[in-house]
Amino acid sequence: MRAIARAQPNIALIKYWGKRDSQRNLPAVGSISVTLDELYTTMAVALDGALDHDELEVNGRAAQSMLPRVSRCLDSVLGGDRLRARVTSESNFPIAAGLASSASSFAALVVAAAAAGGRETTVDELAGLAGRASGSAARSLYGGFVELRNDADGIDVATILDGEAWPMRVVAAVTSRAPKPVSSGDAMEISRRTSPFYSRWIEEQDMDLATARDAIAVRDFGKLASIAEHNCLKMHSVMWASRPPVVYWNAATLACLERVRELQAQGAAAFFTIDAGPQVKVICLPEDETRVIDALSNTDGVETVLVSGIGPGAARVNGD
Ligand code: DP6
Repeated sequence: MRAIARAQPNIALIKYWGKRDSQRNLPAVGSISVTLDELYTTMAVALDGALDHDELEVNGRAAQSMLPRVSRCLDSVLGGDRLRARVTSESNFPIAAGLASSASSFAALVVAAAAAGGRETTVDELAGLAGRASGSAARSLYGGFVELRNDADGIDVATILDGEAWPMRVVAAVTSRAPKPVSSGDAMEISRRTSPFYSRWIEEQDMDLATARDAIAVRDFGKLASIAEHNCLKMHSVMWASRPPVVYWNAATLACLERVRELQAQGAAAFFTIDAGPQVKVICLPEDETRVIDALSNTDGVETVLVSGIGPGAARVNGD
């Protein structure tokens, strides 16, 4: 009746932006990501017949505003007539600031909930359920380089290359810890309704996915770097051209991009990506990690730098 699971956030190299079915939270496009290692969310779910409503605590505090989404996710895993649950979540990185905390949270939640309820499930099924709660969460059920394919009747998620097969480091420059002004879900909807670039974004995504897939298959860092940066800037261009515009960046975000350009000019194997927040994630080969950390740490406006390798998918914590 009680289980604990751990999941790592994932960073999209080819982005999910836009929904084709908001009721079922189905993405409008496929995506490719890497699952992280050292950053994680631990989620405990205790089903308790004595409770008359669900309870949620996030990093030691009651989190009322997130409870409805968590309750819906528990319903989807265990059915609406389930016992109420006490859910406790701890993340070792800033939440709600564009570091994909919803991905690690909902991935860990579906694993812990299924285990607490004694439900036999497949990873595929859990990925589908996590994706209903948050599209990017489906990818955190898998480790390494992960592709989410947008299938006719849902999503299909799989590891396309193990992390050990092509070790990389991810250096995240945190430029603000403030919660984001617009949720990614709302921003996607604004983009879909108002951005003149949205349809083009959707049209080109399969091409970007194919390029990234090929680059990963042959471990071509330059090719992956170029398509990932292009896809990221294209996604933000869609947002910037929306009405109202959605701009997640701050001055330090841009300063970090300049730093990455300098590092590249000096021969470093490194590229940037940015999600629905002002943080800049730099993906690099292990031999360039130290100079990337040094450069980003010494950039004005960078509060802290978090470092991670590529890690495994969500899993139950042993013994719990
Ligand atoms: C920019 O998964 O947070 O990080 O499905 O509405 O919960 P919802 O959206 P979410 O969006 C992630 C958007 C992104 C790109 C990505 O991770 O692919």
